[in-house]
Amino acid sequence: MLILLIFSVIILLILYIKNKYFTLRDHILGLSPHFLFGNVIQSGFVYGRSRAQIFEEYKQRYGDIFQFFFGPIRLIVVSNTTDVQHIFTHRNIYEQGYLFTEQFSVLFPSGFITLTGSKHKRHAAIAMPLFRRARIIDNFDLIVDCTDKLLSNWRISSSQHIHCDIVAQCQNLLLQIFGLISFDYDLEALDQDDPSKNELTKALHDFMSACELVLVAPRILGVMYTKLSRRHRRAKSIITRYIYQMIDNEMTASEESRAQRKRTCLIASLIASLQEDEEMEAKKSENEKKGLSRAEVLQEMLAFMIAGFETTSTALAWFIHFMSKYPHVQQKIKEELIKTGGEQDLTLNRLDSLVYLDCAINESLRYAPPADGTMRTLIADDRLPECGIHLHKGDNIFIPFYNLAHDERYWSIDPKLFYPERFLNEDKNHHLYALIPFGSGHRQCIGQDLARFELKVIIARMMQQVTFIDGGPTVNSGGHITSMTILPKNVGVGIEFA
Ligand code: HEM
Repeated sequence: MLILLIFSVIILLILYIKNKYFTLRDHILGLSPHFLFGNVIQSGFVYGRSRAQIFEEYKQRYGDIFQFFFGPIRLIVVSNTTDVQHIFTHRNIYEQGYLFTEQFSVLFPSGFITLTGSKHKRHAAIAMPLFRRARIIDNFDLIVDCTDKLLSNWRISSSQHIHCDIVAQCQNLLLQIFGLISFDYDLEALDQDDPSKNELTKALHDFMSACELVLVAPRILGVMYTKLSRRHRRAKSIITRYIYQMIDNEMTASEESRAQRKRTCLIASLIASLQEDEEMEAKKSENEKKGLSRAEVLQEMLAFMIAGFETTSTALAWFIHFMSKYPHVQQKIKEELIKTGGEQDLTLNRLDSLVYLDCAINESLRYAPPADGTMRTLIADDRLPECGIHLHKGDNIFIPFYNLAHDERYWSIDPKLFYPERFLNEDKNHHLYALIPFGSGHRQCIGQDLARFELKVIIARMMQQVTFIDGGPTVNSGGHITSMTILPKNVGVGIEFA
């Protein structure tokens, strides 16, 4: 009798879970989900197809709105500009995505990305000014120097050599820049002899690997991994030690040197906002709190790294891939560089006058957005204006940047073409929401000006000295790898010095 009862309860539980989490609902089209796995097996996600590729295919099949079950999490994917604009401009209904707040909070519960409401506002008030243009351009020389270091590494290798590790090399460059801008610390990421010998660099790499896992795994597994993995715990404790040491050093520096460092170094600026009495602040309500605690400074630094380092290096890797595929675009960038000044010098003024280069960077971000999309979660019921679908509190909306940027309805020139000139002419006034590689609305990327600046300086410097050559159809075939970003799978290029 008891066995029968337990058996019935289990069956009822399974039926409840299946109905609640793994059944098509609300008349929104999509593939019927598998129990526990949702659509990740049928769609090929587990076999390596990227979300961008899957959602592009589903849009052809189901139209502008469809459901996709990422395991038990149901995403409602919205691919038309009117509804997307509605979502981004109604922040009172559409809050930060559940996946971001739930999954990222396993790693940094008080980091910018995971926070909502007044706590997010307090952190934003401190973080936003760090990413203003006046602050960003102070990093110009530093970015040029790091790029020159990578170029001199490339100069040593033979011109016949096909570089198949471009993604890793871009990551090393951006990590080196991140270390200097964020901590004023040389992570030795571009050193030719084993960069992993640096304790902090290795710990940051290990922390990033944990992020990749935690973002896609169910939260419970992520929590278990961070608690049980010795590698992750070791990485976290090394990073914590270094950052707390940096905080202590900063606190004991002279007023003058702190004021000076605050201008260019992110951590120095965050430290300037440290709460004077953490115990007192902890007792206050969130609305009364000001500044950050030491633990929050640590988590913000980690959040900036996760949000800013792989995204920018992925954008650079895609750009190099496209340059090797479209030599005439590369040639035009070089001509613009020559027309606007000498071949070797690069100055801030010259950088501003490189209009075609801006178009080429935009086209690369359009053609291969590093982040495939973003999420919002509803905090009240709503109806989408264009498709008329009724949404419910708690629904998770996914906005696929790739679909919008490749939709023929929103582009005068065929969006399948890689054509930077579109931004000078026919597509100059494209729909605002057709190209949103940095998201939009109240949770849009706070580092977008820094990312654009880094990319422009690095690429201009590279284009002054090298030409990227297509390494052939196999090694340079592109394709997607889903990590925290959509990485190019095969980039193999020759590097020719002028
Ligand atoms: C090419 C490079 C980059 C791309 C493509 C990118 C893309 C994005 C996207 C799509 C979002 C979500 C926006 C939304 O939901 O509307 C985001 C958020 C964010 N990004 Fe970036 N990003 C880049 C570089 C950076 C850099 C360099 C930093 C800072 C160091 C940064 C810091 C952040 C932060 C803190 C958030 C969270 C904002 C919030 O939740 O309020 N990103 N980024």
